[in-house]
Amino acid sequence: QAKVELSLGAIPEGKNVIIKWRGKPVFIRHRTQDEISEARDAKWEGLRDPQADEDRVQRPEWLVMLGVCTHLGCVPIGEAGDFGGWFCPCHGSHYDISGRIRKGPAPLNLEVPQYSFPEDEVLVIG
Ligand code: FES
Repeated sequence: QAKVELSLGAIPEGKNVIIKWRGKPVFIRHRTQDEISEARDAKWEGLRDPQADEDRVQRPEWLVMLGVCTHLGCVPIGEAGDFGGWFCPCHGSHYDISGRIRKGPAPLNLEVPQYSFPEDEVLVIG
């Protein structure tokens, strides 16, 4: 379906949820204050796909992105890798807590889909 709606109240801080949207996994992470600071303190200008965390999220505590490695499309593993984010086991790409590529063969950050918050506790993907 075109859109998927999700209730955020049941996702505690520091937890990942994976949903399916248009046949693809979407990663949703309720980031902690420490994770938000880490994502924002990173020197992003020198990264492979330079992007500020502020340009990747609408609300700092909610990171929403496609769970598709930008190398060859495997699904990365959460809470893994050298940068506190995701790790793709297929060929060893490491993503940070903003989903930015840090190490390994992937060329781009994990993609951010269209989404919105129609209500405070409701997320709509698509
Ligand atoms: Fe993820 Fe190759 S598909 S590193």
